[in-house]
Amino acid sequence: MEPVIDRKHRGGEERSHSTLDAYDRLAPVWSQATDEGPFNGFLERPALRALVPRPLAGATILDAGCGSGAQCEWLLGEGAEVVGIDLSPAMVEQTERRCSGNGRFLVADLGAEPLPIAPESLDGVTCSLALHYLEDWQIPLRSFATALVPGGWIVISLDHPFGPPFPGQQGGYFDTVLVSDVWSKEGVEVTQRFWRRPLSAVFDAFAVAGFVVERVSEPQPSVEALARFPADLSPVVGVPWFIVYRLRLMS
Ligand SMILES: C[S@@+](CC[C@H](N)C(=O)[O-])C[C@H]1O[C@@H](n2cnc3c(N)ncnc32)[C@H](O)[C@@H]1O
Repeated sequence: MEPVIDRKHRGGEERSHSTLDAYDRLAPVWSQATDEGPFNGFLERPALRALVPRPLAGATILDAGCGSGAQCEWLLGEGAEVVGIDLSPAMVEQTERRCSGNGRFLVADLGAEPLPIAPESLDGVTCSLALHYLEDWQIPLRSFATALVPGGWIVISLDHPFGPPFPGQQGGYFDTVLVSDVWSKEGVEVTQRFWRRPLSAVFDAFAVAGFVVERVSEPQPSVEALARFPADLSPVVGVPWFIVYRLRLMS
């Protein structure tokens, strides 16, 4: 089998500086803020993991936009060979530390072409809350399609397109618009900018890149999570917040 990481094709020229800066600053606190946090730890990550096909033992999986390595650590625990990439060097450092010598991790921009991954070297891809930083999804989705074996899968989580509008959001539901939000995590304040698009644009992008949607999940807080974080999670009950898709590469 070809090596998974093709170092000849390291990309990354077109990275988004504001996203990169924000995540470099958040990296030291990201695990602490999210692993046991209401939205990532107790709502989005369980839903994403529930859609990942098993068993994973011996499978080679890319975690795209790996952050500080929560999914990578989980995938390794499931027996997968793991490759993690992220735009932020500080996040990749956190992932390396967290996974203590297991897995292969590198700095790469999902918006740059081509991704430094050898063709047909992956069984699956997880991409947790990262794709909405890019306006154009054809570059990353085509890269995933090339890197996957025939019949390979992707599990992608995103903000739900029917979710509450962000502060100052312009345009209507059918517009693809750049939105921004101010986050404060463990004393680190950043302004994040990401793209909101209608459901039809999401499904079109998947289809154009050669994927069919196999499963969709719209997670709601569990009873335990609600009891633990009533103030954070009560407003989410009955409200679309995150959406998770499992896609399959058409052969
Ligand atoms: C909301 S965080 C999620 C991190 C991780 N998946 C998790 O669940 O904790 C989004 C991540 O996507 C990364 N990211 C954003 N734009 C990216 C790009 N163009 N290429 C690669 N990674 C990107 C960020 O650096 C950040 O680590």
